[in-house]
Amino acid sequence: MMDPQEFIDESIEELSSSIDGKAIIACSGGVDSTVAAALVSRAIGDRLLTIYVDNGLMRHSETETVRGILTNLNVNFKIVNAEDEFLDALQGVIDPEEKRKIIGEKFIRVFEREAKDFEADYLVQGTIAPDWIESGDHARDTIKSHHNVGGLPEDMDLKLVEPLRDLYKDEVRKVARHLSIDVSERQPFPGPALAIRVIGEVTRDSVEIVRKACHITEQEIEEAANEGRMEMPWQYFAVFLPVMSVGVHGDRRVYGGTVAVRAVESIDGMSAAYSRIPHDVLDRISLRITNEMKDKVNRVVYDITNKPPATIEWE
Ligand code: XMP
Repeated sequence: MMDPQEFIDESIEELSSSIDGKAIIACSGGVDSTVAAALVSRAIGDRLLTIYVDNGLMRHSETETVRGILTNLNVNFKIVNAEDEFLDALQGVIDPEEKRKIIGEKFIRVFEREAKDFEADYLVQGTIAPDWIESGDHARDTIKSHHNVGGLPEDMDLKLVEPLRDLYKDEVRKVARHLSIDVSERQPFPGPALAIRVIGEVTRDSVEIVRKACHITEQEIEEAANEGRMEMPWQYFAVFLPVMSVGVHGDRRVYGGTVAVRAVESIDGMSAAYSRIPHDVLDRISLRITNEMKDKVNRVVYDITNKPPATIEWE
C-alpha cells in the first residue's frame, strides 16, 4: 500500500516537470477528479483550468455542491452548461456501450472547446486503475468502456495526463484525506452519470425520475446511517427501468414504471456484495418513491446480486 504523502510529493514533482504549458481538467466533484485537480493545481497553479460540465445528467443539486467544493479547493474553475448538447446526442440510444461512447466523446468535444479558449495543450483526467482495467486492452475483455478511457477519440489533439492511473479507490480516498479534501468520503459516481442509471432511452423525463429516485435513496440511507440504524454502504443509488406494470392508487388503476434500488459493500469496486439494508429503510425508500412520483413509478425492487456475476451499475 502506497504512502499518501510520498505519493503526493512525487506526483507534484513529476507533474510540474512534465506539464510545460497550460492544462485543463474536468472535475465532476467526485473523489477521483477532485484529487487529480488538487494535485495538478498544486503543481502548476493557475496554468490549470478546472471545468465542471453540467451535462444535464448529474444528481440533485450537484452543480451547486461542486461549485462549493471547487471554491473551497481554491482552484481556477469554470462551470459549463452543456445539457442540450448531451441530451440531444443521446436521443434514441439504448445500447449501454453506445451511451458511454457518445458521452465520452461529447465530454472530449467540450474539453477541446474549452481547452482552445484557454490555450491548453494537456487534458488531465482522474482515471484510476479499475477504469482502464475494466475498459479492456489487448489482453483483457471489455466489461464496460469507462467514459474516461473508452470514449477517447483517436483524433484528440490534447496530451493526456492521468496522475491517479495506478491507484485504487481506497488509495485515492487516502490521498484525499491527506490533502484535507472534503469529498474524500463521497460515494463513487460514474462518469456517464445518470445516463447509465436509466435503462433504455435517456430523456429529460427519465433522467428526472432517476434523479429523484437516487436523491430519495441517498437521503434515506444517509439518515439511517447517521442515526446508527445501519452501516453506510460503499455505494447506494437507484436505477430507472422502463418496465411497465399494473398498480393501484386508491381505487384507480395505474400503469407505471419500475425503480430498482441498489446498495453494495466493496473495497475497490472490482467486486461487491449487496448490502443487507434493514427492511424499514427499504420501506421508507419504496413509500417515498411511489408517493412522490405517483404517476410515473408504481413498483420498487431491491437488487440482491453481487459483483460478479452482476456489475455495480446496471449498464
Ligand atoms: P461497475 O458497474 O463496473 O462499477 O461494477 C464499478 C465502479 O465504477 C463506477 N463506474 C464508473 N466510474 N466512469 C467512472 O468514473 C465510468 O464510466 C464508470 N462506470 C462505472 C461505478 O459507479 C462503481 O463505483
